Amino acid sequence: MGKDSLTITDNRTGRQYEVAITDGAIKAVDLLQIRSGEDDTGLASYDPALQNTASCRSKVTFIDGDKGILEYRGYPIEELAERSSYLEVAYLIVKGELPTTTHFSMWQHNIKMHTMLHENVKRFIDGFRYDAHPMGILIGTVGALSTFYPEAKHVEDLESRRTQTRRLIAKMPTIAAYAYRHSLGLHYVRPDNELSYTGNFLSMLFRMTEAKYRPDPVLEHALDVLFILHADHEQNCSSTAARVVGSSQADPYSVVAAAAAALGGPLHGGANEAVIRMLREIGSVSKIPELIKQVKAGERRLMGFGHRVYKNYDPRARIIKRIAEQVFEVTGRNPLIDVAVELERIALEDEYFIKRKLYPNVDFYSGIIYEAMGFPVEMFPVLFAIARTSGWMAQWAELVTDPEQKIMRPKQIYTGHPRRNYIPLDERRDGGALETEVRGPL
Ligand code: ACO
Repeated sequence: MGKDSLTITDNRTGRQYEVAITDGAIKAVDLLQIRSGEDDTGLASYDPALQNTASCRSKVTFIDGDKGILEYRGYPIEELAERSSYLEVAYLIVKGELPTTTHFSMWQHNIKMHTMLHENVKRFIDGFRYDAHPMGILIGTVGALSTFYPEAKHVEDLESRRTQTRRLIAKMPTIAAYAYRHSLGLHYVRPDNELSYTGNFLSMLFRMTEAKYRPDPVLEHALDVLFILHADHEQNCSSTAARVVGSSQADPYSVVAAAAAALGGPLHGGANEAVIRMLREIGSVSKIPELIKQVKAGERRLMGFGHRVYKNYDPRARIIKRIAEQVFEVTGRNPLIDVAVELERIALEDEYFIKRKLYPNVDFYSGIIYEAMGFPVEMFPVLFAIARTSGWMAQWAELVTDPEQKIMRPKQIYTGHPRRNYIPLDERRDGGALETEVRGPL
């Protein structure tokens, strides 16, 4: 067995350096000692999109993308989806261990105590346009919560962190449900704390004139499993956004607003919305070959396919496919499932997808279930955000208590103009181009 170090020869100077390897990584700051001359500030690593850079140590989630393994705090996702509940998994993710019976009932009680929204928050939601995207409402409203709980800025205070974590896990479904009802012009339904976490959420969404809303147990369970599957996914784009914003010691509401904003993009949590739009556009199995042709020609992406980490199969997609059949027994079959299954079959036999290791991800089937349950596509990323809140809070808490962390501030490689002198406005020549014609990214 060799040494746990890396020997680097700088061919510019002929000098050799030894850099320690710990946990399969070298420290990027160890490269700073490698200099080509007096003026050189040291060697940097260049990694756009942070594809091969570990930015933290984390105990929350383990993923082996090649083997298709996902574990929260060491527990396989398959077991948690089969035997646990979302609130129990949220406890596990946030605290690090599964709760005992007593701890679990305290946790449930503590979450339920925070399900209601301040009346002014409701009025804040009222202020959004009738057709506002619910993800925009969620991001704006959760960010605004920091003004209602100013003590949240004490990020170093454990009790404050615990309170804000309970509040966020409790209030996200309420904000989400009110955002949905706002778009329909319906009155807001108060939380019903006698129901389960997902049962109450369904009640706040769909209750009309009935005295007591009784959620369908199959749909309540399916939503709970979907929430478990989305609860955390280590250093994904939105958790990274949470950590970046949290690194400036911003309060957790601003952190979750930033994370939700990242989640809303079509390449991340917005993908299931894009999948449904794509499947609707395809419409029937006979149109699939044409779509595959366009994807292979590089004209578009197959939404819900591919993942930065999973290069085998997304284990969550397998569980979701099973849940879909249970949901359809209650709601009736969503015809898009047949298009999706056939699309998956054709894609997985095609050389283009095999070569690039492109498989269905969690979002390929989740949207079909959500649609069958009566959710409009705009609500899909909102559902994802509710579930991911426990993960964001766990990642954020790790960050603020990690002595190795500092405010995040990556380097750049400057490729702009060399130093030049200012020319007065009336002496500049632009060849007569209009502002909109000047070439550049803006
Ligand atoms: N359809 C067609 N081709 C694809 C797809 C896709 N969905 N995804 C990747 N590829 C191709 C790329 O064109 C590229 O091909 P090339 O080597 O010939 O240029 C190759 O596969 C590698 O793709 P990258 O973009 O480098 O992979 P990356 O890891 O950066 O992207 C991502 C991952 C963003 C998820 C990508 O696969 C994608 O856009 N998928 C569709 C959107 C989606 O489903 N997102 C949800 C992700 S899961 C989640 O957030 C919960």
